[in-house]
Amino acid sequence: MTGPKIAVRDLRLEYFSEERGERHVAVDALSLDIAENEFLCVVGPSGCGKSTLIAAIAGFLKPRAGTLTMNGRPIGRPGADRGVVFQEYALLPWKRVIDNVALGLKFKGMGKAERHAVARRFLEITNLADAAQKFPHELSGGMKQRAAVARTLANAPEVMLMDEPFAAVDAQTRLTLQEELVRIWERSRVTVMFVTHSVEEAVFLADRVVVLTPGPGRVKASVPIPIARERRDWTTMNADPEFARLRDVVLGLVRGVAA
Ligand SMILES: Nc1ncnc2c1ncn2[C@@H]1O[C@H](COP(=O)(O)OP(=O)(O)OP(=O)(O)O)[C@@H](O)[C@H]1O
Ligand SMILES: [Mg+2]
Repeated sequence: MTGPKIAVRDLRLEYFSEERGERHVAVDALSLDIAENEFLCVVGPSGCGKSTLIAAIAGFLKPRAGTLTMNGRPIGRPGADRGVVFQEYALLPWKRVIDNVALGLKFKGMGKAERHAVARRFLEITNLADAAQKFPHELSGGMKQRAAVARTLANAPEVMLMDEPFAAVDAQTRLTLQEELVRIWERSRVTVMFVTHSVEEAVFLADRVVVLTPGPGRVKASVPIPIARERRDWTTMNADPEFARLRDVVLGLVRGVAA
């Protein structure tokens, strides 16, 4: 494929309140390309339209103006080609982990043996093989989030949209999840758009970090992160002056936005 995986052009997204008869512009004049197999992180102040942008790419929200395409075709409804991972894990509490992971495949009509085989592969990748038969309430926050990632990947999406997926876990688990996500992504090579408040998290994970302006969000800057994947563990990154430099560049851009 030659063109971008996802192309966003002059996008305007609005919410309309019937009650108050008011229009709220959440995103305006936003243009952004995401390349095939890219790991893109998006940072920006609260309320700048990050979740709204994810909703639009997922197909839950229609553009008011501009265009949104995937593989050169306009994005319409939500589809299995785009998987979304939210901050809340959204696992079904009455289903075992393996059946949660296999759920999308069940909806697609895949038989039980086959979908469990696929689910087991992604539980392996996300380091949850031993938790397959457990119920969500028996898992820690970090395990639940990995199960949610496994479920999304099991559906073989072309693009994984992640909206602050690690915001609700404790700091130590979060570091581990970040390291694990790098490895999971390397094995799946799905295209990722990852939204976060954390500049450190963004620079650690990304091929490129996009900084948005305060709402209505536009792209303020795009910073490539040319750090080798093999070096993406926290022990190495914490000692890497290039990581510190890039983090400060992005932090400066985010602070500049807020000023
Ligand atoms: N359902 C809604 N109806 C009306 N306005 C909304 C709705 N959802 C979000 N907004 C508004 O749209 C703007 C963008 O919201 P959005 O949730 O996309 O921000 P965000 O960048 O994800 O913020 P955060 O970092 O806090 O998650 C905000 O001003 C918000 O108040
Ligand atoms: Mg949000």
